[in-house]
Amino acid sequence: MSSLLLYNIGSLASPRSENAPRLSGVAMSNIYTEQNVAILVENGIITRIGASADLEKEAIVAERFDAKGMTALPGFVDSHTHTVFGGNRANEFAMRSAGKTYQEIAAAGGGILSTMNATRKASHEELYAIGKKRLDAMLRHGTTTVEIKSGYGLDTASELKILEVIHELSRTHPMTIVPTFLGAHAFPPEYKNDREGYVQLVCNEMLPVVKERNLAVFCDIFCEQNYFSLEHSERILRTAQELGFKLKLHADQLSASGASALGVRLGAVSVDHLECTTSEGVEIIAASETIATGLPGASLFLNHPYPPLRALIDVGGTVALATDFNPGSSVTFSMPMMMTLASTQMRMTPEEALTASTLNGAAALSLAHERGSLELGKQADILLCDIAHFYELSYHFGMNHIVHVIKHGKVVV
Ligand code: NIG
Ligand code: FE
Repeated sequence: MSSLLLYNIGSLASPRSENAPRLSGVAMSNIYTEQNVAILVENGIITRIGASADLEKEAIVAERFDAKGMTALPGFVDSHTHTVFGGNRANEFAMRSAGKTYQEIAAAGGGILSTMNATRKASHEELYAIGKKRLDAMLRHGTTTVEIKSGYGLDTASELKILEVIHELSRTHPMTIVPTFLGAHAFPPEYKNDREGYVQLVCNEMLPVVKERNLAVFCDIFCEQNYFSLEHSERILRTAQELGFKLKLHADQLSASGASALGVRLGAVSVDHLECTTSEGVEIIAASETIATGLPGASLFLNHPYPPLRALIDVGGTVALATDFNPGSSVTFSMPMMMTLASTQMRMTPEEALTASTLNGAAALSLAHERGSLELGKQADILLCDIAHFYELSYHFGMNHIVHVIKHGKVVV
């Protein structure tokens, strides 16, 4: 048995879920804090949390690690990213700074399709090397579980290439990775004038082979004007559901299309973005089990409105935060930055933002039973930060306070 005693923790802060699969509404504020504690980890699982002085005397362990008075938090769960792609779009960033909009750039052949071109050209090995470097950086910023979508291949072979890279990363990297198929991210040039043909390709060829090779847990879709209509989205998502995929949607990002209501109707695990969700949409989501995932990095980066996360929490909804790391709308690995934006731009309290970045992120990946909080029986995914109180993490923004990362009971940073 492997064992680790993490002692001399100055302060600990974590959602208290007591095995609840998520924390909703006012319960999102259920953060517990403790001072001068130690955490005992056995075989990667948290088995005791108690006064450091007691545990230092009592625990019989293979390894001890001095937290030096730092603050311990659960590892972040970044439940929405597009981490595996080739190239970058710094040129579009410059164009937007000169006044072009995201939609204008996409209509002129940039956007998702420009990343598709770079990703199609990249080899498995190149994408693996890029992905590994990004995951290393995410880990240094405190993310210990990440969802990664395909969606920059847009033909069967290239989508499979991305998913196989994700699969290899999940076998070789300490990060816990949840793979999502996003073949319906945009219409590739070959199907520019045959949208129906691409929807059929996704339904009849891509989804079955992704399932057969067991390369994704979730199926996601970009439901939006000029991308996938409500009708196409429903067809693709229903096909995915019948094959056994769980569902996610890019919903209401650029317009109030009703995508979030579609997600709720189909029992999606999460609806993500929500920049344009109406008050009616807020009610529909909050009354359901579907998690509302806010991606404030995309609002900041594209200068778009922020999603109505305050309203969602006020009417009892379940809110998660994620980076949406991708080359076009949110180029960041930093979950603490999302927490800062949540508190400054959407009036979420630091307590709510912490729950949204940990336990509810895990819930958005159907993993809250095993991770997302520092509680007995959970995976020991623990951050040690050079701050005295967890508020300082989002308060002192734009820098990295994470000093050590413990993943499944092993010190990896
Ligand atoms: O989540 N909205 C669709 N997909 C991404 C952006 C993709 C891109 O611009 O490359 C998003 O914002
Ligand atoms: Fe996204």
